[in-house]
Amino acid sequence: MEVIVLPSSKEIGALAADAIESLVRTKANAVIGLATGSSPLPIYDELARRHDEEGLSFAETSGFALDEYVGLPVGHYESYREVIRREFTHRVDVKAENVHGPNGASENLEDACQSYEDAIAAAGGIDLQILGVGTNGHIGFNEPGSSLASRTRIKTLAEQTRQDNARFFDSIAQVPHHVVTQGLGTIMDARHLVLVAFGAGKADAVRDFVEGPVSAACPASILQFHPRATVIIDEAAASKLEGAAAYRNAFNNKPEWQSL
Ligand code: F6R
Repeated sequence: MEVIVLPSSKEIGALAADAIESLVRTKANAVIGLATGSSPLPIYDELARRHDEEGLSFAETSGFALDEYVGLPVGHYESYREVIRREFTHRVDVKAENVHGPNGASENLEDACQSYEDAIAAAGGIDLQILGVGTNGHIGFNEPGSSLASRTRIKTLAEQTRQDNARFFDSIAQVPHHVVTQGLGTIMDARHLVLVAFGAGKADAVRDFVEGPVSAACPASILQFHPRATVIIDEAAASKLEGAAAYRNAFNNKPEWQSL
């Protein structure tokens, strides 16, 4: 796991965007795993800027969302399909038919989960998965206690997560209790994981998943087993890391030929 500490969300977004740009420039039909929430927004802003100002094209790429609420009507403003469209895909030239998300409105959620796994496999797997981390250490909506080998399935949101996400809704009562999420096993199949986190509110989760034991109690700790996991965080999110100086030293002395 590579841990990179940068001063601001803008620089974090730019570095993550560098990894995505270099992927897309070497593999035009790259498959990108898309997260929602606040953390990826600086990445999407930077990619949209590069698209507008530098001609970075996503025309051949495809995208797969990490998760989706169950029970929100199709087209709901806060459904993750809409959020991803609004925050990223409609700002660049990804073809609408190449953007996928788990179907949280399906009558048969188990079939929908299997179809989603099948669609990711049919696309050749995810090349680069963008991730945020919950204050309780979740990735996707794999809440503490999730099987480390899990695949796309229905999960119940932790109350902490509902409270954290209430800011996107008029009241907490509107935050669904259930979601469909890529499993930890699904996420681990992606060829490169790029997790971004900002702010003191993430410091405990970052300490636990970077330096704590690998455990279902902290789902993001599974990243310790991934051969190519890049964690890009700000000073506040890094403030409880014992090894912060060592991570900074490694990044500052990184050989130029070595990519993220
Ligand atoms: C979103 C997702 C979640 C968020 C996490 C952090 O698709 O899968 O794991 O990344 O809840 O959310 P923010 O970035 O809003 O703090």
